[in-house]
Amino acid sequence: MSESHDAVDVITTKRDKRELSDDQIRWVIDAYTRGAVADEQMSALAMAVLINGMNRREIATWTAAMIASGERMDFSSLSRPTADKHSTGGVGDKITLPLAPLVAVFDVAVPQLSGRGLGHTGGTLDKLESIPGWRADLTNEAMLAQLDDVGAVICAAGTGLAPADKKLYALRDVTGTVEAIPLIASSIMSKKIAEGTGALVLDVKVGSGAFMKNREDATELARTMVELGTDAGVKTVALLTNMQTPLGLTAGNALEVRESVEVLAGGGPEDVVELTVALAQEMLKAAGRDGDDVAAALKDGRAMDAWRRMIAAQGGDPDAELPVAKHTEEILAPADGVLTQLDAYAVGVAAWRLGAGRARKEDPVQAGAGIELHAKPGAVVRGGEKLMTLHTDTPDKFERAKEALEGGFTIAPEGSRPDLLPLLIDRIS
Ligand code: URA
Repeated sequence: MSESHDAVDVITTKRDKRELSDDQIRWVIDAYTRGAVADEQMSALAMAVLINGMNRREIATWTAAMIASGERMDFSSLSRPTADKHSTGGVGDKITLPLAPLVAVFDVAVPQLSGRGLGHTGGTLDKLESIPGWRADLTNEAMLAQLDDVGAVICAAGTGLAPADKKLYALRDVTGTVEAIPLIASSIMSKKIAEGTGALVLDVKVGSGAFMKNREDATELARTMVELGTDAGVKTVALLTNMQTPLGLTAGNALEVRESVEVLAGGGPEDVVELTVALAQEMLKAAGRDGDDVAAALKDGRAMDAWRRMIAAQGGDPDAELPVAKHTEEILAPADGVLTQLDAYAVGVAAWRLGAGRARKEDPVQAGAGIELHAKPGAVVRGGEKLMTLHTDTPDKFERAKEALEGGFTIAPEGSRPDLLPLLIDRIS
């Protein structure tokens, strides 16, 4: 087949800080997906984009080209509106688990296509797979039927959705080009737009445990994604939220499911409840419903009922005992004082090294591995008191996990205050 463009021309256009034409972008994404543009050429282009950026038109065309590489889902046959949430990823971020059934209580359907964890951030599917019997893989028809019946589904994205992104993301992962804001925004939004949701709330994390380490970069990413969603007809809102310290008191698969169930039972850590409620309110508003008492549905059992139905619909037993790690070890406070810093990245890496995460996508994860926190920043602690419990099936992993935690927390003299951003930092619409 004769090609309408030349890959080297496209690469040098961006290398020389010029704008790519719509035609060049559409061609390069299509040709890369077909194999007519080689990995080394696409990685050179991704690096040129990382260094020189893309403007709003280029990013919109890039995103549309990635959507066009695969199928689009269609939820228009449902009797209720749809709303989804996407988090850019963090440590202890189990919010999807209580959030999806909570929103379904209010007659808004939640089609949540999720991923597995890679690196120090956990994956929603890994967490749910710690529930005996639960299955992540559903056909499009089964997903639609569950949305009609239960109102919420959390499952793996099929291979037909934005295949260009799948190929490009794997390439970026090994070429140091993940961090380009135009590429992150188009990667996330191509999948969300192709998924067919009517409304989307983005939880853009800021801090050591997130992709975006500072507020400026997170704001730019959030704005770019909100523009892409809005231009594609998806009602899109972003919240910037704190990922300097882990969310809640657990990081690890079954540990996070247990904490999510506590939230659905009307308890659970304050920050997890606050963020779940804030995101549910935004999703309902974006789907055209406003004024519902979301917190009440966590307290009175309605969200728990929806959770049980959602888990059972995918073969899971909501009453089954969750796996527990075979070994635990405690980290004790070295002195009296105030815990002023508990670093999300350090806790995420330690949980990962204990077996909660994977280094390569084909690696297995341990369902029971992870970290339980006994104190959060601001807590007064006494020397010798438990700060954290480490969980793993393989005790030889404790040493490397403890190395990751070195410098990851600070106990300052009593009266000191942690210097933390608030949980809800900003809202962008
Ligand atoms: N998540 C995605 O889906 N894509 C990215 O590029 C980064 C995070």
